[in-house]
Parts: sequence; C-alpha cells; structure tokens
Amino acid sequence: MTMSKIPFIVLITALLIITACTKMSMVPVDELDSTLKQMVRNAAEDNTLEYWVLPESDDYNSIPQEIKNPLTDEKVALGKLLFFETAFGTEAAAVENIGTFSCATCHLPSAGFRPGSAQGIADGGVGFGINGEERVKNVNYEEGEMDVQGARPLSLLSVAFVENTMWNGSFGSFGVNEGTEDLWVGVLGFNNLGVQGMEAQNIDGIHTHKMHYDEEAVELNGYKDLFDQAFPDFPETNRYSDTTASFALSAYLRTVFPSKAPFQDWLKGDPFAMTDEEKAGAMLFFGKAACTSCHNGPGFSSLEFHALGVNDMYQRPSFRTSAADLRNLGRGGFTGNPADNYKFKVPQLYNMRDTEFYFHGASHTSIKSVVEYFNEGIGENPNVPAEQLSEKYNPLFLSEEEINQLTAFLDNALRDPDLLRYQPEEVLSGNCFPNGDFQSQIDLGCQ
Ligand code: HEC
Ligand code: HEC
Repeated sequence: MTMSKIPFIVLITALLIITACTKMSMVPVDELDSTLKQMVRNAAEDNTLEYWVLPESDDYNSIPQEIKNPLTDEKVALGKLLFFETAFGTEAAAVENIGTFSCATCHLPSAGFRPGSAQGIADGGVGFGINGEERVKNVNYEEGEMDVQGARPLSLLSVAFVENTMWNGSFGSFGVNEGTEDLWVGVLGFNNLGVQGMEAQNIDGIHTHKMHYDEEAVELNGYKDLFDQAFPDFPETNRYSDTTASFALSAYLRTVFPSKAPFQDWLKGDPFAMTDEEKAGAMLFFGKAACTSCHNGPGFSSLEFHALGVNDMYQRPSFRTSAADLRNLGRGGFTGNPADNYKFKVPQLYNMRDTEFYFHGASHTSIKSVVEYFNEGIGENPNVPAEQLSEKYNPLFLSEEEINQLTAFLDNALRDPDLLRYQPEEVLSGNCFPNGDFQSQIDLGCQ
C-alpha cells in the first residue's frame, strides 16, 4: 500500500461512518418525533403542541392570574424575598424558634418546591441536611405545638394553573368551588374575598405557618420601600399586612414554572432534548398508559379529584396525624358529600426526582414504584372501598421495559435542572434561609 492511499481510505471510512450514524439517528428520530407529536397534540384540549408549553416567567400576558392581584415586577420581586424570609416567623411556639423558618422550609426549590422530608416541619423543626432531608423535631417541642400538616406538601411548580388550591381544592372562590359558598367559614372565610385559591389560601397560610406582617415588622426588616413600590394603590393603613404579603407571595409563585425541562425544549422544537427511551416513555404517557386522562392541564395538574386508594400520612411514621383527620377524606373532607370521599386533586408532575416522597400520604418513595402502582391499578389503603376508586384508574398491563421507559420520561424529561433561579441570593434581614435554627445554619453553611 502506498502512502497516498492511506488518507484516502481513512477519508472513505470516515464518510461511511458519518453516513451510517446520520442514518441511525436521523431517520428514527424523525419517525418517532412525528408520531409522538401527533399523540401529544391529540392529548391537548385544543389539539396543539403549544398547549403543553409552559409560559416564561416574565411573560405576564400568558400567565393565569387574579384580577384583583395583577402581576407586576415589583410584586414578584417582593414575593421572591418573602417566600424565603425567616424574619416574619415571629409567632413560633417557643422563643428559640422565632425567625427560623419560611415558606421555603416546606417548599424547597432544590426539592421541586416540596420539602426534602415526607411531611415538612416549619416551627418545631430543626436542621436541614443537604436537601431538607435531615429536618427533625425539636426535642423541646410538644408534638401538638409543631407546624406540621397531615398531608405531604404540594409542589408549587406551575401553581398559576391551580385555580382551587390544597389537595381537597377548598381554597378559591371560583372554579370547582362555585356552589360551595355555605362552607366558607373559619379559615375558608378568605374565599369570601372573591379571589383565586392562592390569594385566599396564602393569607391563611401566613397564620398557619406562624408568621405575621405589620408595618413595624416590615420596616424593621427592611421591606417598607418594596411594599410601597408593590402596593401603591393600597392605602398606607393596610399596605403592610398579611393580605398584601399574600398577594406578593402569590404573584411570585405564579411565575414559577419548570420551563427548562427537556420535554419543554422538545416541544419548542429541539428533537435531541429527549433520549429515545424518554420519547418511548412519552408515547406511553400520552398514549397507552393514558396518564393525561387525569393529568391533563399544561403543568400536568388538573382540577379533577380522583381516588387512587393510596395510604394516608397517619399510616406511616409522622407527626400530628390521625385516622380521624378530615384530610384523609380528600375532597369529601371539605364538601361533606360521601361521593367525594378519598378523592384528591390531580397534582403537577415536574421535578418528581428532586425528593423521594410521592402521593398525599408520602406512601411511595421512588418514581418507579409510583409507575408500578398505576400499572397495577388496585388500591393499597384498606379504608378506601374499591367502588370509590376512579373509573379512570385501571390496570395498564405494561411490560418491565415500558415501566422503565415511562419512569425515564418522568425522571429526566420532566425535570427542570435549574430551579435555583427562583431563589434569591439573600433576603433583606440578612438571615440564614430557608431555615435559621442553629443546626440549619451549620448545614446551610451560614456560619
Ligand atoms: C409546615 C410546612 C409548610 C409551610 C411552612 C408552608 N406550606 Fe404550603 N403547603 C404545605 C402543605 C402540607 C400543603 C398541602 C396541604 C393540603 O392540601 O392539605 C401546602 C400547600 C400549599 C399551596 C397549595 C398548592 C396547590 O397546588 O394546591 C400553596 C399555594 C402553598 N402551600 C403556599 C405556601 C406559602 C406561600 C407558604 C408561606 C406563607 C407556605 N406554603 C408554607 C405545607 C407548608
Ligand atoms: C385517575 C386519574 C389519574 C390517572 C389516570 C393518573 N394519575 Fe397520577 N395522580 C392522580 C392523583 C389524583 C394523584 C394524587 C393522589 C394522592 O396523592 O392521593 C396522582 C399522583 C401522581 C404522582 C405523584 C405526584 C406527587 O406529587 O406525589 C405521580 C408521579 C403520578 N401521579 C404520575 C402518573 C402517571 C405516570 C400516570 C400514568 C401511568 C398517572 N399518574 C395517571 C391521578 C391520576
């Protein structure tokens, strides 16, 4: 062989390899993509791909909002600080815990806006670990003094689409709550303001979570100018209050979307954003497994209530839970209608991997086990009668390979890797956040 032939052979080989590779990846991608696109369109209410595209955070015109609380940059900026600010946690049961917790204690961006533990403990908890997983009960607290709820905290991703909030949908004056006016007493009295779920709920949430806002506290912690800029239309006498704080928190939360998830990039035209396995999983999600028969809103949440018969929080090690907790009845615990019993709101599905507790009772600890639960289509909770289970919840007969594909789609394609962009660099009090107790300060590197 002469020297001049060697580069020629190398060139030909390289060309062959390139052609082969192009053939291998391009042709199937095209086919897979066009089939998948058609399925994704078919599953959308308006038969478009855009239906599933989440708004950009600053595209206020595309974000669902409350007429009485229109989005402004000033409100969003204020809410982004308040959500993480521990300084307003002044109503703690023990002096040592004052100013040591925030909304983000139970809704951590790094945990997909859920807590890193099954339940989430604000007042009465200590520690953080790496991702909230080591938050435990403060030994000086009685269990009854703790701020811990009888259901796993909902994720707040894409919550702008959630007109009626809570697992039972009890907050919010419109949507599924029209006709339930007689039940708007006690904390649900905020529904009488005639507002969306979040704006009503967050006023109550501030009380429930042992926080308080007034002019003195707002000024002391350096927030007065920001309240003035955010709420110029409110008379000064009620500009610095739980209501305005709720409005700012709600405005901020309405801008929190997992819009950098690979599936979002794929929807916007990048065929390489998802792997073939994830695409196969997506085919199942939108097709054979019929996940979108319930998870049918743009963020995969919906205002439907379904019984899947999963276990409640009291059936696992937990604080302040009981078999008698009305929360265990889901929508029925709010409406009092037995037909609504055990039916829970359909939650969103992005960033599932970021913490390992699934369902309202945190009864499953991996995405795969959730997929297997849907595949089996039978309840696990002996309290839930079989005839109460949703008629859309049925055995799926997926193979092991299909279970893995569906898991891959949820695990990676529906995960925004950059949720920390929704977290501020610092809060105005200068406190450690999202928690400020002694152990959390160590864990979070604040000391
Ligand atoms: C102690 C933990 C904890 C703290 C602190 C906390 N939350 Fe929650 N949050 C929960 C739990 C639990 C739920 C679900 C309760 C239910 O449905 O029964 C929830 C639900 C929500 C929802 C409803 C979401 C939906 O899709 O329906 C919103 C909105 C919310 N929280 C906002 C906030 C805000 C704002 C703060 C701070 C003022 C806050 N949370 C502080 C535990 C917490
Ligand atoms: C019958 C309606 C329905 C169908 C069909 C359905 N889901 Fe759900 N899904 C729900 C409801 C309701 C919940 C919350 C149940 C609870 O906690 O009580 C839920 C919860 C989940 C969760 C846990 C979310 C969280 O925050 O803990 C995941 C993950 C999930 N579904 C994925 C899927 C997948 C994947 C499919 C398709 C195989 C699917 N779902 C089909 C109604 C449905």
